[in-house]
Amino acid sequence: MPEDTAELEARLEEQDAFEPPESFVEQANVSDESIYEEFEQNWPQCWEQAADLLDWDAEYDTVLDDSNPPFYEWFTGGELNASANCLDRHLDERGDEAAIEWVGEPVDEENRTYTYEELHREVNEFAAALRDMGVGEDDVVTMYMPMIPELPVAMLACARIGAPHSVVFAGFSADALATRMNAADSQFLVTCDGYYRRGDPLDHLSKANEGLGGVEHDVEATVVVERLREGDDHGHDLADGQHAYADLVADHEGEEVEPVSRDAEDMLFLMYTSGTTGKPKGVKHTTGGYLAWTAWTSQAVLDVKPDDTYFCSADIGWITGHSYIVYGPLALGTTSMMYEGTPDHPDRDRLWEIVDEYDATQLYTAPTAIRAFMKWGTEYPERHDLSSLRLLGTVGEPINPRAWKWYYKHIGNEDCPIVDTWWQTETGGMMVTTLPGVKTMKPGSAGPPLPGVDARVVDTEGNEVAAGDAGYLTVNKPWPGMLRTLYKNDERFIDEYWAEYSDTESDDMDDWVYFPEDGAKIDDNGYITVLGRVDDVLNVSGHRLGTMEIESAIVGVEGVAEAAVVGGSHEVTGEAVYAYVITEEGYDEDEEMRERIVEGVDSAIGPIARPEEVIFTPELPKTRSGKIMRRLLEDIANDEELGDTSTLRNPDVVSDIQQKVSGD
Ligand code: WT7
Repeated sequence: MPEDTAELEARLEEQDAFEPPESFVEQANVSDESIYEEFEQNWPQCWEQAADLLDWDAEYDTVLDDSNPPFYEWFTGGELNASANCLDRHLDERGDEAAIEWVGEPVDEENRTYTYEELHREVNEFAAALRDMGVGEDDVVTMYMPMIPELPVAMLACARIGAPHSVVFAGFSADALATRMNAADSQFLVTCDGYYRRGDPLDHLSKANEGLGGVEHDVEATVVVERLREGDDHGHDLADGQHAYADLVADHEGEEVEPVSRDAEDMLFLMYTSGTTGKPKGVKHTTGGYLAWTAWTSQAVLDVKPDDTYFCSADIGWITGHSYIVYGPLALGTTSMMYEGTPDHPDRDRLWEIVDEYDATQLYTAPTAIRAFMKWGTEYPERHDLSSLRLLGTVGEPINPRAWKWYYKHIGNEDCPIVDTWWQTETGGMMVTTLPGVKTMKPGSAGPPLPGVDARVVDTEGNEVAAGDAGYLTVNKPWPGMLRTLYKNDERFIDEYWAEYSDTESDDMDDWVYFPEDGAKIDDNGYITVLGRVDDVLNVSGHRLGTMEIESAIVGVEGVAEAAVVGGSHEVTGEAVYAYVITEEGYDEDEEMRERIVEGVDSAIGPIARPEEVIFTPELPKTRSGKIMRRLLEDIANDEELGDTSTLRNPDVVSDIQQKVSGD
């Protein structure tokens, strides 16, 4: 361990609370603690403050319509367009300022700057092209794209014409694309030929085409962005009904499309996320509430100001990129950075090089990345001047105090507050975190709920637990950014998020409680430490994966009889996928089988879900009623003392499996 780190640890180890730096507080967008009290007194009218950050075509009549919980409606009667809010209204004052600074992965390549003017122009041209291809209001357009600027262009073009988008993470497999297009009955796809990963061009269109092959309805049109350079080996001939993006935009050069006035409650987008069943959930977000929520939290928590160069390193294929690369920052008229590649290409200082070169003012990233940086060592950030940074953020999983302190010292130089933001795909934006100009920070604890957010930690009965005790996180009042339902599945929406703690017969808002399925504890000051999922959902590198989805992928592999997937703890990724597998008679438990299992997961979901360990076992530990005891498998994966095995039908199997795990 370098001396510097040792000293730091000695000094910081004891410290469990940090005050926001004075220099930050002086300039913070929110620096007055009274906001908590004010929002509580004035709830739900307090959320006018968020709506006021937007331009409305028609003023809303009511802040919250709670007449039919949990189908809440926000800013009802209001009309607006998200694309106009992110672009048009900034043109006068900020037309020549950068909206997006895009950094491609290859270092020798020209990076691209889109001013608001330029982004507005291209969004209009592409919106005109989409319309021409027959995309109408409320038609779901799927995007299967990596981190290239055409992705936010396509999202904003859809928003402009009132067509909801459904972005599928580019790392997902062809099957995953087909499943999502089928579920959304989506007839349009925007994708690309390929992109770069660690220096190599990666074919993407073959995967997209394979996915299209699994779509059960007619697909009207596919647009292909040609991202790869001439000479790269992945040239493609486009099929019938497939259009090259550049041609479309050129054909519509200079065209303007009047932004469609959308009802506040009209769908802005769908985002599929993993749940406890094998079927991903289509989370529906709306135009008014979502945009107000992401704009307000970007301002209050990320302290975004128009002159900032704000850098979120997430992928737009996940909710973090939707809310905090695209909608929140652009609604506020700031410069949002986008980086195509991985943080270790060509070297492990790529992110720091970008921060340095662009004078990034905020960095919002995931604990898994921070733990990797920590492992790589301080020499990489030390190569660069990071003094432009004013605020740091984390999201996606709990951050351990050691990683927090490393981030604070080696990236923030002890000058930047850190916001540890708890939220979910479903919440649309941040829910539990400190206001950086107001609150003391406690490493490892996300912080108090944001003003106006009623998050609590409760026991199984719904009663608040005592400080220090573990319980379940709940949100006891609605908020503007909340999901409105699961696409075409109101019943599952209620089952998954509300049934646990609500009186589902009641139409009184106070009887309805949102359950995010996270465990948590709370301290004397109301700071919430999120402990992790309490359902069968894993969090690998901040990505949500359903164990059921992975299990069904594995069971689909020839020769597999049964599989159970659990999360084992992992130094960098937080959790890692552990797969316990029973093979069918006549199949060897060998390396070839292991490889086929990994391939099966790759092709059903994508490499992000790849098992870290495949453990062959003759049996799985089951209760007398036949339920797999996952907790035991988790204990084994984590090499922890085993929980109660007395209710097992087959207690002997446990030691067999243990031997296999430690024996390998
Ligand atoms: C789950 C949501 C939020 C966007 C990225 C992930 C976990 C998220 C934190 C945090 C502890 C966190 C929770 C949550 N999570 N942020 N700051 N501390 N855990 O979105 O895929 O919808 O996953 O991520 O378990 O339920 P997601």
